Amino acid sequence: MAGPDADAVDAYIVDRLVGADPAVEAALAANAAAGLPAIDVSIAQGKLLHLLAFQTGARRILEVGTLGGVSTIWLARALPDGGRIVTLEIDPHHAAVARDNIARAGHAGQVDIRVGPATAALDAMIAAGEGGFDFAFIDADKENNPAYVRAAMALARPGATIIVDNVVRKGGIVDLSDADPAMAGTRALYETVAAEPRLSATAIQTVGAKGWDGFLIARFIG
Ligand code: SAH
Ligand code: DHB
Ligand code: MG
Repeated sequence: MAGPDADAVDAYIVDRLVGADPAVEAALAANAAAGLPAIDVSIAQGKLLHLLAFQTGARRILEVGTLGGVSTIWLARALPDGGRIVTLEIDPHHAAVARDNIARAGHAGQVDIRVGPATAALDAMIAAGEGGFDFAFIDADKENNPAYVRAAMALARPGATIIVDNVVRKGGIVDLSDADPAMAGTRALYETVAAEPRLSATAIQTVGAKGWDGFLIARFIG
């Protein structure tokens, strides 16, 4: 008989420490019914994002890559009264599903979904002086990861937290024979962060419901 595996441990963790979550479960079901890819953060990862946003006292959160709004819902739950999330999504169908999921979860009034390419939306936000974000979660097209981190720094207050998803990809990050442009974008992200004295960062590898991957976690020193 095979021994325990990372998926079984993920289920154990979620069962003990997170519990049933009707709003997230409804969002995942709606995503599947609408044909969205099942690439949302896992339950344990979503709870981690929620805890980090809560522990850092985030009032204004920037998200790049909404999909069906699962990570948005986890982050919205951390907001104090008057807190807001701006989340950027290129695909109008994803954005429409997310809008319904977020409303059903009771967070419509806290979330501003902007539909279109994130690079243009971020440039417009910078031009409009929409700064002061406390927390950013970057989880869209990986080719643009360096640009997204630069934009997040331009929009963040000193001391802000910047998190980037999918920075390990089953070890592909160190497999230089892997010519996937997404992987190249994430390698360029590491180089950008490494060369940036205004960021203090690490990355943590994860296993479980989404396979072997990881989060990059940075503090924007300012
Ligand atoms: N953060 C979500 C998952 C996001 S999946 C969650 O955990 O629940 C990545 C999303 O980024 C997809 O919905 C995709 O349409 C979107 N995306 C891809 N390229 C983009 C771009 N250039 N600008 C904005 N969004 C983009
Ligand atoms: C993919 C994208 C993601 O953001 C993720 O968390 C997992 C997979 C993908 O494009 O395959
Ligand atoms: Mg991701």
